[in-house]
Amino acid sequence: MQTLTTIAELRQQVRAWRQNGERIALVPTMGNLHAGHLQLVDEARRCADRVVVSIFVNPMQFSDAGGGDFERYPRTFEADRGKLEASGADLLFFPSQQEMYPAGFENVTRVEVPGISDILCGAFRPGHFVGVATVVAKLFNMVQPDVAVFGEKDFQQLLVIRRLTEELCFPVEILGVPTVREASGLAMSSRNQYLTAEERERAAILYRTLQAAKTRLQAGEGTIATVESEALATLADAGFRPEYFTVRRARDLHPATPGDTELVILAAAWLGEARLIDNIRLRP
Ligand code: PAJ
Repeated sequence: MQTLTTIAELRQQVRAWRQNGERIALVPTMGNLHAGHLQLVDEARRCADRVVVSIFVNPMQFSDAGGGDFERYPRTFEADRGKLEASGADLLFFPSQQEMYPAGFENVTRVEVPGISDILCGAFRPGHFVGVATVVAKLFNMVQPDVAVFGEKDFQQLLVIRRLTEELCFPVEILGVPTVREASGLAMSSRNQYLTAEERERAAILYRTLQAAKTRLQAGEGTIATVESEALATLADAGFRPEYFTVRRARDLHPATPGDTELVILAAAWLGEARLIDNIRLRP
């Protein structure tokens, strides 16, 4: 596996592969890799000849860039490189902030996906999805992959990326991969390491609450509104600080209405120092 840090070198390598008729997959990440990320790499290897993984902690998607969440985001480059080497990735793209945003990121061309970027996580993290959409569009132009692989754990992010790909006519196939979980059910996340050992055990309640809500709705026990408010109470009782717990239409995250058949239950909640998100699909 080669590690490249400049766009020029990246383009040169990708061009050579493409001239050989090889199919190229991209897996964008912010590093601190866990089994969830490596599942995306496995998926990418199955559907392409060459796999490019990017590691870039994107300051534009953190609301308090320069401090707080961006500064403390875990950076574990050497360990990440070892895991990618073992996973069979072909190229690790690890650009500097200067390479990605030579003119800074405050006042640059940006990609906005309206309607879906300012609800749920976007309502609690203003500007977050503009940062995500912009960096993903830039990576698509740098790598020009045939396919790009993302996790369903970040369900709203996946929809934002599907929309920008379609509406900006990127010739990229978007592949979603089911959430990889700890044995307890907790969705794997780089932010789980902000939890104490005790909180990490308790964190599994988030997924259990999603499963319980799904079971109740499928059994026709209670309305969406009562199931949502009871789940919020369950989380608060367990010491979480919930931001939302809501049943939405899977295709656009609009509030579910009777007759919708493809639904998703999404939740975001703080536990101690960690902001956790998770979701579960629901077909009533
Ligand atoms: P990051 O949080 O590093 O996640 C990179 C990719 O791994 C995303 O597609 C995410 O959905 C996926 N992922 C994370 N945890 C997962 C899990 N437990 N199971 C399956 N997939 C999982 O998401 C980002 O980075 C950034 O926003 C990015 C898209 C790279 C843009 O900066």
